[in-house]
Amino acid sequence: MTTSILPVPLAHDAGAFSGFEPKESSNASRRRIGTDEFRYVEEVLASDFRGSAKPRMVEKLEKIFCEKFGVAYAISCNSGTSTLHSALCAGGVASGDEVIVPPLTMASTALAVLHQGAIPVFADIDPETWTLDPNAMRRLLSPRTKAIIPVAIYGLAPDMDDIMEIAAERQLTVIEDVAQCFLGRYRGRLAGAIGHMGSFSFQSSKHMTCGEGGMVICNRHDLAERVRRHSSLGYAGLAAGPGCSKIRKEDLLDPNYARHVALGWNYRMPELCAAVALGQAVRLEEFVQKRMAAAKCYLDAMAGCDWLIPQKVPEDRVHSYWAFVVRLDAASIGVDWQTFRKKYQELGGDRVYAAWRLNYLEPFFQELQKKPQGSLAHLSGQLGERQRWDGGLCPHAEAVQPWLLQFKTNYLDLELAAQKADALRQTIRHFEKFKRR
Ligand SMILES: Cc1ncc(COP(=O)(O)O)c(C=O)c1O
Repeated sequence: MTTSILPVPLAHDAGAFSGFEPKESSNASRRRIGTDEFRYVEEVLASDFRGSAKPRMVEKLEKIFCEKFGVAYAISCNSGTSTLHSALCAGGVASGDEVIVPPLTMASTALAVLHQGAIPVFADIDPETWTLDPNAMRRLLSPRTKAIIPVAIYGLAPDMDDIMEIAAERQLTVIEDVAQCFLGRYRGRLAGAIGHMGSFSFQSSKHMTCGEGGMVICNRHDLAERVRRHSSLGYAGLAAGPGCSKIRKEDLLDPNYARHVALGWNYRMPELCAAVALGQAVRLEEFVQKRMAAAKCYLDAMAGCDWLIPQKVPEDRVHSYWAFVVRLDAASIGVDWQTFRKKYQELGGDRVYAAWRLNYLEPFFQELQKKPQGSLAHLSGQLGERQRWDGGLCPHAEAVQPWLLQFKTNYLDLELAAQKADALRQTIRHFEKFKRR
């Protein structure tokens, strides 16, 4: 007698999983990990990881991404940090080059630049959309600038036309960091498919997940091939497109077969992760729509409130709401960040997060500026030369960051989202009463 971990039993024996029963749910659409993910994982395990098992899960996943985003190439990796690193390498960014990044983002955007031995140059954000400001960016261009990484922060694409125009004038590579933006749109186009490359993350908080993972998408064969090589140990025999291998069996039987043609990392996505991501990718539209619906619940709850200011969504954009984020105008209501959060939770609200500290104010960046060491020692004398990573560098980002309240949108059960929005409505009422007294 065997027990399956699967919500729906499979045709064959799943006994090896016994003891890992998934939680029962009356409504399958409320489960984040569905039956397909379990089925695909089981297929991988049943294959004994034989390389001959075809088509591989990574191949299927990459094909789905090409179709969904209307691009020629999709290269899976093991994180949304390794995707950025591989894309920078593919874009020809080298040691000592400069890459323009916004400071209000998860630090991987700038860390990936440093992994490539290059210098992140921080450009301020727009005070209302909180995305990279193309004018601020233009002012920072130098002969050493090689690339730009605009970030679709919280799920909102930046002003991509302006960014692409500047990039075209200076022949810069644009890598869209869309770790937080699946199926968001800018002027009708899908975010991630506008720049030269787009970089997604499948880390557990993202619209779709496989625990950890990522994907680079692009249309140029040369870039795709370089991303593949960089993320796969520099193997010569790997194709840019889904299918990965152009190695023939005879090659492997030849002791003189030349495998390595470039310096590469092992950033490949494991088959087990690809199996989960494949099941998730099929449901991506549902996941995104639910996050958008949760954001709508919060927006409705905030109607008429002038001291919680949501991220501005210009008319030409579709926000994919990885998170619903507002700026607390503490001065006008007289409530500080922690007090607001505490009351929201008392009234039934969920976790609320703060925005990341601006990258250049993080201790690591501060220390690096003082004394670049190890693999970054070559930047000694260069960091801080053109840009000091001190308070005052990006005034808009510095004014906004301490006051951002980041609400969860990851509710597959929309009744729960409505309850959390109701807690927000009550919290607003509570403080407004307090204000009127
Ligand atoms: C904007 C942004 N860029 C990059 C990353 C890095 O992705 P990962 O955690 O998959 O390495 C993240 C993930 O949290 C992110 O939010």
